[in-house]
Amino acid sequence: MADSFAIRLAVHADAPGIAVMSRDLIETGLGWRWTPRAVARLIRDRTTNVAVACCGARMAGFGVMQYADDEARLLLFGVRPLHRRTGVGSGLLAWLEETAVVAGIEMIFLEARSTNAIARAFYAAHGYRELAMVPNYYSSSEDAVRMGKDFAVANASPRFG
Ligand SMILES: CC(C)(COP(=O)(O)OP(=O)(O)OC[C@H]1O[C@@H](n2cnc3c(N)ncnc32)[C@H](O)[C@@H]1OP(=O)(O)O)[C@@H](O)C(=O)NCCC(=O)NCCS
Repeated sequence: MADSFAIRLAVHADAPGIAVMSRDLIETGLGWRWTPRAVARLIRDRTTNVAVACCGARMAGFGVMQYADDEARLLLFGVRPLHRRTGVGSGLLAWLEETAVVAGIEMIFLEARSTNAIARAFYAAHGYRELAMVPNYYSSSEDAVRMGKDFAVANASPRFG
């Protein structure tokens, strides 16, 4: 059954909870790069959107999108196990994508561990294409798969006259 959740931009007080989710859901085996302090920097950064999905007072998931000109990169993305497969990830991704398209982004890229079959299936289900394998992308010498989704058509201005 779909969870009832709300999505909003993260605030400074969310940084510790997001950092712990990043450590436990995404960075396993890689060391803890996205500490509370590093996440707080992301929340302050004007070129980055940090979004959280909340079920009541509890954070169910989060996503971080970084912008550069007309491209964006989904830097971090995760949903707590208890809330998975209930549409939280899809809702969060759609929110981040819509925000990016409004900002003029034409292409979103991301990297996932090549062994992360669930993430690959999730992103493929949302229209992301596998573009390349990136050997030794992670510090533990793990390979990544680079994926991308083209929004240029969605952004095309309507033609008049
Ligand atoms: C990948 C992840 C974000 C998906 O979040 P989620 O909230 O469970 O996703 P949704 O419920 O919105 O799933 C949407 C679709 O994605 C695909 N999908 C999601 N989980 C899947 C799984 N375990 N196996 C196969 N397909 C899956 C399905 O097509 C699903 O649609 P369906 O449930 O109608 O079949 C979540 O599993 C997660 O946080 N994983 C750990 C962290 C991670 O890998 N992050 C991404 C790489 S950084």
